[in-house]
Amino acid sequence: MNILLVGSGGREHAIAWKLKQSKKCQQLFIAPGNAGTATVGINKNIAVTDFENLGNLCIQEKIDLVLVGPEVPLVEGIRDYFEASEALRSIKLIGPGKLGAQLEGSKDFSKNFMNRHGIPTAAARTFTSANLQEGLDYLDQHSEPIVLKADGLAAGKGVIISPTRAEAKEVLRDMIEQKRFGDASASVLVEQFLEGIELSVFALTDGKNYVLLPEAKDYKRIGEGDTGPNTGGMGAVSPVPFADASFMKKVEERIIQPTIQGLHQEGIPYVGFIFFGLIKVGNDPWVIEYNARMGDPETEVVMPRIASDLVELLDAAATGNLGSIQVEFLPEAATTVMLVAGGYPDEYEKGNPIHGLEEVKDALVFHAGTKTTASGEIVSNGGRVITVTAFGKDIVEALEKSKKGAAQIQWKDRYYRSDIGLDLVKLLH
Ligand code: AMP
Ligand code: GLY
Repeated sequence: MNILLVGSGGREHAIAWKLKQSKKCQQLFIAPGNAGTATVGINKNIAVTDFENLGNLCIQEKIDLVLVGPEVPLVEGIRDYFEASEALRSIKLIGPGKLGAQLEGSKDFSKNFMNRHGIPTAAARTFTSANLQEGLDYLDQHSEPIVLKADGLAAGKGVIISPTRAEAKEVLRDMIEQKRFGDASASVLVEQFLEGIELSVFALTDGKNYVLLPEAKDYKRIGEGDTGPNTGGMGAVSPVPFADASFMKKVEERIIQPTIQGLHQEGIPYVGFIFFGLIKVGNDPWVIEYNARMGDPETEVVMPRIASDLVELLDAAATGNLGSIQVEFLPEAATTVMLVAGGYPDEYEKGNPIHGLEEVKDALVFHAGTKTTASGEIVSNGGRVITVTAFGKDIVEALEKSKKGAAQIQWKDRYYRSDIGLDLVKLLH
C-alpha cells in the first residue's frame, strides 16, 4: 500500500517508523513531516489543513491509505472532504469525520455524550456569555479547587485549575468576556476536580469493533517532580504498572465499550484512534477527556511496544474487520524522554544546530520539532525537539538508556527531565 501520514511531530515520526517496518507499506509520504520522518519516507511540504493539496497528492501518488496524526485536520473535517470527493472517496482514511472528532473538538459535546451513556466523568456545567451571571453564581456554591475548561480546541492549554472561587470567577470572565482562548472559550465548562493519577489508554476502532493498544502515562509539567507550567509532554512510559488486568477490565467495561457502542447507537461513524485520557480515583477509572487521535509523546512508547503489523491493523480498521484481529505487545518497559528548547513552554529559540544524533546506539531517536536546512544541517524548529525512546526490563532500566541517549544529543540550551516514570516506580514500593 502507498500511505500518506499527515502531521509533523514526534508522534508522526514514531508512526512513520512503525509503518515502514510493514511489508505491506510500499511508498510512505509524510505531510509536512520533519527531519526525522524524512529518513523513513518522503516529506511533502503541505500543511495539515490544506485538504485540497493533500487530496491532489493522494491522486498523484496513488495513495491507498491516509493516517491523520493531529486533531486539527480531523476537527476541521479532512474525512468529510475526502468523502465528498469522487476521486478521493475510495481511499482508506484513519481518523473520524467532523462529527466523531467532536469527542475532542467540543468538551461540552463529549461531556453530554458521556452523561448519555453513563460513562464515569466529572460533573460539569457549561456557561456562555448568555448565562455568565448564572455561572458566577454557580461558582459561589462550588467546592475548591475548580476546573475550568474551554469548550473548543486550545492546543492543550484550555484547562485552568483555580484554587479558589474568587480566582475561578476571574478566569471564567476572562475566558468568556475577554476571549482568553478565542472562540474556543466562548463556552466554558465548570467541572468537579478529580484527585488521582492519570493514564492514557488508546483504542483503534472501525466504529463497531476495537482493539486496545499499549497504555501509557505522559508527563506534562516542565519541571522535575511534576512542577512548573504545562507543556505538550516531556516524556512518557508504557506499560503503566497500576493498569493491571482488573483495572483494565473496568476501563473496558465502563468506558471503552460504552463509548464505542454509544457512537454506534447514535449513528456517529468512527474509524480511527480514540485516546481516553483517564484518571484513577481510588481504584476506579474516570474520563478526563477524549481525543480523536494518538497522544504525543505517548505514541513514542506505544508504537515501539506494538509487535503486530500496524498497516494490517489500520487496513482492518478501515474495512470494518477489527473483530478478527489480535494485537501483540512487547512485554518490556519503554520510556521516552523529550528534549526541549531552553525557555520552552514560554519563549525559546529555533534554528540551533543539533549534534550527536548519530551517537545514540541503544535507543530510538524520534524527531519532533526539527528541520533540515538547505545546507543539510539538522536544526531545532520547535519547543519539543527530539525524544529518545528506550526499552528495559523495567522503567528504571529503560529510563537509564533513554537518559544516556538524551545526554548524547546536544544543542544550545536544550533541556530534559530526568525523572520520567519514577513516580510509578515509587508507587510499586
Ligand atoms: P485536558 O486538556 O482535558 O486533558 O486537561 C488537562 C489537564 O488538566 C489534565 O491532564 C488533568 O491533569 C487536568 N484536569 C482536567 N480535568 C480535570 C478534573 N476534572 N479534575 C482534575 N484535573 C483535571
Ligand atoms: N500527551 C497528551 C496529548 O497528546 O494530548
